[in-house]
Amino acid sequence: MVINVLKTDYLTNLIYNKTPGRLSSLLAAKTTLTMAENNIDWGSLSFSYMKTDFNVRCTFTNGKWGPIEVSDSEYVPLHIAASCLHYGQESFEGLKAFRGKDGKVRIFRPIENAKRFIRSAEGIGMEPMPEELFLEMVRKVVELNERFVPPYGTGASLYIRPFQIGITPLVGVKPATDYMVIMLVTPVGPYFKSGFKPCKVCMSRDHDRVAPKGTGSIKVGGNYAASLVAGERAHNLGYSVMLYLDPKEKKYIDECGAANFFAIKDNTYITPASESILPSITNMSLRQIAEDLGVKVEARPIAIEELPTFEEASACGTAAVCSPIHLIDDLDTGKSYTFGSPDEAGPVTTKLYNQLRAIQNGEVEDIHGWCEILDI
Ligand code: PLP
Ligand code: COI
Repeated sequence: MVINVLKTDYLTNLIYNKTPGRLSSLLAAKTTLTMAENNIDWGSLSFSYMKTDFNVRCTFTNGKWGPIEVSDSEYVPLHIAASCLHYGQESFEGLKAFRGKDGKVRIFRPIENAKRFIRSAEGIGMEPMPEELFLEMVRKVVELNERFVPPYGTGASLYIRPFQIGITPLVGVKPATDYMVIMLVTPVGPYFKSGFKPCKVCMSRDHDRVAPKGTGSIKVGGNYAASLVAGERAHNLGYSVMLYLDPKEKKYIDECGAANFFAIKDNTYITPASESILPSITNMSLRQIAEDLGVKVEARPIAIEELPTFEEASACGTAAVCSPIHLIDDLDTGKSYTFGSPDEAGPVTTKLYNQLRAIQNGEVEDIHGWCEILDI
């Protein structure tokens, strides 16, 4: 394994891991510590940050990407005028590694995240990271933190969070010329406290996450900043998340918090087609699984009026996989829409969820070749 020592550059006055000896001893420590010595209660992990051993970094400067660097620091040295701090040049990804039934570590569909990371960078004028470099960084950060990949059967996984920031000092509003990509990992449990249990969501025409021709279809930090007030409103009213309507006409279902939406009707999986939603890799996978299991798939606009006809409804995304929805309250009209039982997910959602989890856990054949198995 080639490990590069973090270097300083003209933007950073701080130098991390400057001494090779220090890094070697860190890496030696990694090999002697085992999963059992982590003292982590894997079964009760929540979706939150926990320090692990290393993160990996790569800088684009002078027109080229540098080497992959390994750091044990949880901090980023930044110039106070860095463009990410002022003009929001930031994008991120989220993917997971699982320990399978056979003990092997599987990363779920990293190529799709690499592609979306490129689209996000291009969407806000940043230098896109080549797919192969992204994949190399993902593999490296998982390998270096292997002892944090939760054991099979705990329901937990290792969440991988790549992000890219513009680091050029700028005051004028224009794209940076220098970028940094960092990938951190953290072991996580379920995103929603209730896990795979039906939740309640609300909708309101008072909030938009993104603009009609804006940045909704890419994964940039600004979209999430724009959703925080609505999300807090939903939480304070006792709902899991705010369901967003299309920002142009407010007639169609768009996204469910930071997740896609799907519904089941007449053995059909129906999910919104909209240019203001993030193309979810989980949704893409569930659609394929639906077809594999003989469920029809439709991607099309979903009018609010269609809600009462659905038998099942769910949010979907990497963090939760599926989060079944029992109730949608329309805060503006006072109307409520309910789907199935408040206590358990519907049969089709359950079948799709179980199949996707089984692929991630190496319990069934990965017929589409979605998992990258690490050679560690
Ligand atoms: N929609 C938004 C806005 C998200 O942030 C996410 C999470 O990444 C998703 C949907 C689900 O996408 P994926 O399944 O690729 O995680
Ligand atoms: C998801 O992975 O499904 C998410 O919604 C990511 C979120 C934590 C930003």
